Amino acid sequence: MRKKVTVIGSGNVGATVAQRLADRQLADVVLVDILEGVPQGKGLDMLEAGPIEGYDVRIIGTNRYEETASSNVVVMTAGFPRKPGMSRDDLLKANHDVVKSAISEAARHSPQAILIVVTNPLDAMAQTALRVSGFPKHRVLGMAGVLDTARYRTFIAEALNVSVQNVQGFVLGGHGDTMVPVPRYTTVAGIPVTELLPKDKLEAIITRTRNGGAEIVNLLKAGSAYYAPSAAVVEMIEAIFQDRKKILPCAAYLEGEYGIQGLFVGVPVKLGARGIEEIIEIKLTAEEQAALRKSAEGVKQLVSVIGV
Ligand code: LAC
Repeated sequence: MRKKVTVIGSGNVGATVAQRLADRQLADVVLVDILEGVPQGKGLDMLEAGPIEGYDVRIIGTNRYEETASSNVVVMTAGFPRKPGMSRDDLLKANHDVVKSAISEAARHSPQAILIVVTNPLDAMAQTALRVSGFPKHRVLGMAGVLDTARYRTFIAEALNVSVQNVQGFVLGGHGDTMVPVPRYTTVAGIPVTELLPKDKLEAIITRTRNGGAEIVNLLKAGSAYYAPSAAVVEMIEAIFQDRKKILPCAAYLEGEYGIQGLFVGVPVKLGARGIEEIIEIKLTAEEQAALRKSAEGVKQLVSVIGV
Protein backbone atom coordinates (compact mmCIF):
# COMPACT_ATOMS: atom_id res chain seq x y z
CA MET A 1 0.00 0.00 0.00
CA ARG A 2 1.14 3.52 -0.72
CA LYS A 3 2.45 5.63 2.09
CA LYS A 4 0.86 8.94 2.94
CA VAL A 5 2.66 12.04 4.19
CA THR A 6 0.98 15.15 5.49
CA VAL A 7 3.02 18.32 5.20
CA ILE A 8 1.71 21.11 7.41
CA GLY A 9 2.60 24.46 5.91
CA SER A 10 2.72 25.17 2.19
CA GLY A 11 5.55 27.69 2.31
CA ASN A 12 8.95 27.09 0.80
CA VAL A 13 10.02 24.29 3.15
CA GLY A 14 6.68 22.47 3.04
CA ALA A 15 6.22 22.76 -0.71
CA THR A 16 9.78 21.66 -1.42
CA VAL A 17 9.37 18.65 0.88
CA ALA A 18 6.22 17.75 -1.08
CA GLN A 19 8.03 18.11 -4.39
CA ARG A 20 10.99 16.00 -3.29
CA LEU A 21 8.65 13.28 -1.99
CA ALA A 22 6.81 13.22 -5.31
CA ASP A 23 10.02 13.21 -7.36
CA ARG A 24 11.18 10.13 -5.47
CA GLN A 25 7.70 8.57 -5.48
CA LEU A 26 8.00 8.04 -1.75
CA ALA A 27 4.39 8.78 -0.82
CA ASP A 28 1.11 10.43 -1.59
CA VAL A 29 1.23 13.93 -0.17
CA VAL A 30 -1.32 16.17 1.51
CA LEU A 31 -0.25 19.79 1.81
CA VAL A 32 -2.28 21.51 4.50
CA ASP A 33 -2.27 25.18 5.42
CA ILE A 34 -4.59 27.79 6.87
CA LEU A 35 -4.04 29.99 3.81
CA GLU A 36 -6.85 29.44 1.35
CA GLY A 37 -5.85 28.53 -2.16
CA VAL A 38 -2.10 28.32 -1.69
CA PRO A 39 -1.85 24.63 -0.69
CA GLN A 40 -4.50 23.75 -3.29
CA GLY A 41 -2.68 25.67 -6.00
CA LYS A 42 0.77 24.31 -5.21
CA GLY A 43 -0.57 20.78 -4.80
CA LEU A 44 -2.34 20.89 -8.16
CA ASP A 45 0.68 22.40 -9.87
CA MET A 46 2.88 19.58 -8.55
CA LEU A 47 0.32 16.96 -9.54
CA GLU A 48 0.35 18.35 -13.06
CA ALA A 49 4.14 17.96 -13.22
CA GLY A 50 3.66 14.20 -12.76
CA PRO A 51 3.16 13.30 -16.45
CA ILE A 52 6.40 15.11 -17.32
CA GLU A 53 8.47 13.94 -14.37
CA GLY A 54 7.02 10.46 -14.50
CA TYR A 55 5.58 10.21 -11.03
CA ASP A 56 2.01 9.23 -10.32
CA VAL A 57 1.71 9.86 -6.63
CA ARG A 58 -1.36 11.73 -5.49
CA ILE A 59 -0.75 15.28 -4.27
CA ILE A 60 -3.48 17.45 -2.86
CA GLY A 61 -3.61 20.76 -1.07
CA THR A 62 -6.27 21.51 1.51
CA ASN A 63 -7.32 23.60 4.49
CA ARG A 64 -9.05 20.64 6.16
CA TYR A 65 -7.34 18.14 8.43
CA GLU A 66 -9.97 15.51 7.59
CA GLU A 67 -8.07 14.97 4.35
CA THR A 68 -4.85 14.24 6.22
CA ALA A 69 -6.38 11.21 7.94
CA SER A 70 -4.28 8.07 8.38
CA SER A 71 -0.97 9.60 7.35
CA ASN A 72 2.16 7.57 8.07
CA VAL A 73 4.29 10.66 8.59
CA VAL A 74 3.35 14.24 9.44
CA VAL A 75 5.92 16.97 8.75
CA MET A 76 5.39 20.18 10.70
CA THR A 77 6.78 23.15 8.79
CA ALA A 78 4.20 25.88 9.39
CA GLY A 79 5.21 28.88 11.43
CA PHE A 80 6.72 32.30 11.21
CA PRO A 81 10.15 32.31 9.54
CA ARG A 82 13.16 34.27 10.69
CA LYS A 83 13.87 37.77 9.44
CA PRO A 84 17.42 39.16 9.28
CA GLY A 85 18.68 39.90 12.79
CA MET A 86 16.18 37.56 14.43
CA SER A 87 17.29 34.46 16.28
CA ARG A 88 15.36 31.22 16.00
CA ASP A 89 14.32 31.77 19.60
CA ASP A 90 12.55 35.03 18.84
CA LEU A 91 9.97 32.89 17.13
CA LEU A 92 9.25 30.91 20.26
CA LYS A 93 5.82 32.03 21.45
CA ALA A 94 4.21 32.70 18.09
CA ASN A 95 5.25 29.34 16.72
CA HIS A 96 4.35 27.49 19.91
CA ASP A 97 0.70 28.46 19.28
CA VAL A 98 0.92 27.42 15.62
CA VAL A 99 2.43 24.02 16.48
CA LYS A 100 -0.07 23.41 19.27
CA SER A 101 -3.13 23.83 17.12
CA ALA A 102 -1.76 22.13 14.00
CA ILE A 103 -0.33 19.10 15.78
CA SER A 104 -3.43 18.51 17.87
CA GLU A 105 -5.51 18.39 14.67
CA ALA A 106 -3.01 16.27 12.76
CA ALA A 107 -2.47 13.82 15.63
CA ARG A 108 -6.21 13.34 16.06
CA HIS A 109 -6.60 12.35 12.42
CA SER A 110 -3.42 10.26 12.17
CA PRO A 111 -2.93 8.66 15.59
CA GLN A 112 -0.27 6.22 14.32
CA ALA A 113 1.86 8.77 12.48
CA ILE A 114 5.49 9.63 13.03
CA LEU A 115 5.89 13.39 13.55
CA ILE A 116 8.86 15.28 12.14
CA VAL A 117 9.11 18.84 13.41
CA VAL A 118 10.87 21.52 11.40
CA THR A 119 9.25 24.70 12.77
CA ASN A 120 11.71 26.80 14.77
CA PRO A 121 12.90 26.93 17.45
CA LEU A 122 12.94 23.34 16.48
CA ASP A 123 13.92 21.47 19.63
CA ALA A 124 11.36 23.31 21.75
CA MET A 125 8.69 22.90 19.06
CA ALA A 126 9.36 19.15 19.01
CA GLN A 127 8.69 19.15 22.73
CA THR A 128 5.41 20.99 22.13
CA ALA A 129 4.50 18.36 19.52
CA LEU A 130 5.32 15.51 21.90
CA ARG A 131 3.10 16.94 24.64
CA VAL A 132 0.20 17.97 22.42
CA SER A 133 0.08 14.71 20.44
CA GLY A 134 0.53 12.42 23.43
CA PHE A 135 2.51 10.16 21.06
CA PRO A 136 5.29 7.93 22.37
CA LYS A 137 8.71 9.54 22.16
CA HIS A 138 9.98 7.25 19.42
CA ARG A 139 7.35 8.73 17.06
CA VAL A 140 8.22 12.40 17.59
CA LEU A 141 11.46 13.81 16.26
CA GLY A 142 12.97 17.04 15.07
CA MET A 143 14.87 17.67 11.85
CA ALA A 144 18.00 19.64 12.39
CA GLY A 145 21.03 17.46 12.78
CA VAL A 146 20.83 16.23 9.20
CA LEU A 147 20.69 19.82 7.93
CA ASP A 148 23.42 21.14 10.21
CA THR A 149 25.60 18.15 9.36
CA ALA A 150 25.00 18.68 5.63
CA ARG A 151 26.27 22.24 5.98
CA TYR A 152 29.27 21.06 7.98
CA ARG A 153 30.04 18.36 5.39
CA THR A 154 29.69 20.87 2.55
CA PHE A 155 32.22 23.26 4.10
CA ILE A 156 34.71 20.47 4.85
CA ALA A 157 34.43 19.06 1.33
CA GLU A 158 34.96 22.55 -0.06
CA ALA A 159 38.03 23.19 2.13
CA LEU A 160 39.63 19.90 1.08
CA ASN A 161 38.39 19.89 -2.51
CA VAL A 162 36.94 16.38 -2.13
CA SER A 163 33.54 14.83 -2.78
CA VAL A 164 30.92 15.62 -0.12
CA GLN A 165 30.17 11.92 -0.16
CA ASN A 166 33.57 11.27 1.39
CA VAL A 167 32.79 13.45 4.39
CA GLN A 168 31.07 11.73 7.32
CA GLY A 169 30.32 13.27 10.67
CA PHE A 170 27.56 14.72 12.79
CA VAL A 171 26.48 17.76 14.69
CA LEU A 172 25.09 17.32 18.19
CA GLY A 173 22.96 19.58 20.39
CA GLY A 174 20.14 22.00 19.81
CA HIS A 175 19.50 23.64 16.43
CA GLY A 176 20.94 26.95 17.57
CA ASP A 177 24.11 28.91 17.84
CA THR A 178 25.48 26.49 20.44
CA MET A 179 25.16 23.35 18.32
CA VAL A 180 28.15 21.03 18.65
CA PRO A 181 29.92 19.74 15.54
CA VAL A 182 32.32 17.00 16.66
CA PRO A 183 35.59 16.98 14.65
CA ARG A 184 36.88 13.95 16.58
CA TYR A 185 34.14 11.86 14.95
CA THR A 186 34.40 13.48 11.53
CA THR A 187 36.13 11.53 8.81
CA VAL A 188 37.03 12.00 5.16
CA ALA A 189 37.12 8.63 3.39
CA GLY A 190 37.85 7.11 6.79
CA ILE A 191 40.63 9.58 7.66
CA PRO A 192 40.00 11.70 10.77
CA VAL A 193 39.44 15.29 9.61
CA THR A 194 41.71 16.45 12.42
CA GLU A 195 44.58 14.90 10.40
CA LEU A 196 43.65 16.83 7.29
CA LEU A 197 42.68 20.31 8.39
CA PRO A 198 44.48 22.60 10.85
CA LYS A 199 42.65 23.53 14.02
CA ASP A 200 41.94 27.13 13.00
CA LYS A 201 40.40 26.03 9.69
CA LEU A 202 38.19 23.54 11.50
CA GLU A 203 37.17 26.18 14.03
CA ALA A 204 36.16 28.50 11.19
CA ILE A 205 34.09 25.70 9.62
CA ILE A 206 32.38 25.00 12.94
CA THR A 207 31.51 28.68 13.36
CA ARG A 208 30.16 28.87 9.82
CA THR A 209 28.08 25.73 10.45
CA ARG A 210 26.61 27.22 13.63
CA ASN A 211 25.64 30.33 11.69
CA GLY A 212 24.58 28.38 8.60
CA GLY A 213 20.88 29.24 8.92
CA ALA A 214 21.57 32.93 9.53
CA GLU A 215 23.95 33.05 6.55
CA ILE A 216 21.08 32.07 4.25
CA VAL A 217 18.56 34.38 5.99
CA ASN A 218 20.93 37.32 5.50
CA LEU A 219 21.35 36.52 1.84
CA LEU A 220 17.67 35.96 1.10
CA LYS A 221 16.54 38.99 3.18
CA ALA A 222 13.03 37.52 3.34
CA GLY A 223 12.51 33.96 4.53
CA SER A 224 14.99 31.28 5.43
CA ALA A 225 16.64 28.23 3.87
CA TYR A 226 14.52 25.55 2.27
CA TYR A 227 16.43 23.47 -0.26
CA ALA A 228 18.74 21.85 2.28
CA PRO A 229 16.12 21.70 5.07
CA SER A 230 13.64 19.91 2.78
CA ALA A 231 16.33 17.51 1.57
CA ALA A 232 17.09 16.68 5.21
CA VAL A 233 13.43 15.93 5.96
CA VAL A 234 13.15 13.65 2.94
CA GLU A 235 16.29 11.71 3.90
CA MET A 236 14.65 11.04 7.27
CA ILE A 237 11.35 9.97 5.70
CA GLU A 238 13.14 7.66 3.29
CA ALA A 239 15.01 6.01 6.19
CA ILE A 240 11.65 5.45 7.92
CA PHE A 241 9.66 4.18 4.92
CA GLN A 242 12.45 1.92 3.70
CA ASP A 243 13.23 0.76 7.24
CA ARG A 244 16.87 1.57 6.58
CA LYS A 245 18.04 1.57 10.24
CA LYS A 246 20.03 4.60 9.18
CA ILE A 247 21.98 6.47 11.80
CA LEU A 248 21.23 10.16 11.46
CA PRO A 249 21.53 13.06 13.86
CA CYS A 250 17.99 14.12 14.86
CA ALA A 251 16.36 15.95 17.73
CA ALA A 252 15.17 13.18 20.09
CA TYR A 253 13.53 13.28 23.51
CA LEU A 254 16.23 12.30 25.97
CA GLU A 255 15.51 10.67 29.29
CA GLY A 256 18.91 10.27 30.84
CA GLU A 257 20.95 9.66 27.66
CA TYR A 258 24.00 11.91 27.58
CA GLY A 259 23.08 12.93 31.14
CA ILE A 260 20.14 14.98 29.80
CA GLN A 261 16.66 14.57 31.22
CA GLY A 262 13.31 15.39 29.63
CA LEU A 263 14.48 17.49 26.69
CA PHE A 264 14.74 17.30 22.90
CA VAL A 265 18.37 17.57 21.86
CA GLY A 266 20.15 16.56 18.66
CA VAL A 267 21.88 13.18 18.95
CA PRO A 268 22.59 10.30 16.57
CA VAL A 269 19.57 8.00 16.34
CA LYS A 270 18.74 4.89 14.37
CA LEU A 271 15.79 5.61 12.07
CA GLY A 272 13.61 2.79 10.82
CA ALA A 273 9.98 1.84 10.28
CA ARG A 274 9.10 2.42 13.92
CA GLY A 275 10.65 5.88 14.01
CA ILE A 276 13.51 6.30 16.46
CA GLU A 277 14.59 2.71 17.04
CA GLU A 278 17.62 3.53 19.13
CA ILE A 279 19.43 6.52 20.56
CA ILE A 280 23.13 6.02 19.92
CA GLU A 281 25.25 7.11 22.85
CA ILE A 282 28.79 7.89 21.84
CA LYS A 283 31.65 8.64 24.19
CA LEU A 284 32.37 12.32 24.54
CA THR A 285 35.34 14.10 26.07
CA ALA A 286 34.68 16.35 29.05
CA GLU A 287 34.88 19.35 26.73
CA GLU A 288 32.42 17.93 24.19
CA GLN A 289 30.06 16.89 26.98
CA ALA A 290 30.20 20.40 28.43
CA ALA A 291 29.40 21.91 25.02
CA LEU A 292 26.43 19.55 24.65
CA ARG A 293 25.17 20.43 28.13
CA LYS A 294 25.43 24.12 27.32
CA SER A 295 23.44 23.59 24.14
CA ALA A 296 20.82 21.56 26.03
CA GLU A 297 20.64 24.33 28.62
CA GLY A 298 19.58 26.71 25.84
CA VAL A 299 16.76 24.35 24.83
CA LYS A 300 15.69 24.01 28.48
CA GLN A 301 15.31 27.75 28.84
CA LEU A 302 13.01 27.92 25.84
CA VAL A 303 10.97 24.99 27.01
CA SER A 304 10.51 26.58 30.43
CA VAL A 305 9.22 29.80 28.83
CA ILE A 306 6.44 27.94 27.00
CA GLY A 307 5.93 25.45 29.84
CA VAL A 308 5.93 22.19 27.89
C1 LAC B 1 18.06 26.98 9.07
C2 LAC B 1 16.73 27.35 9.66
C3 LAC B 1 15.63 26.80 8.86
O1 LAC B 1 18.91 26.46 9.81
O2 LAC B 1 16.66 26.97 10.98
O3 LAC B 1 18.25 27.22 7.89
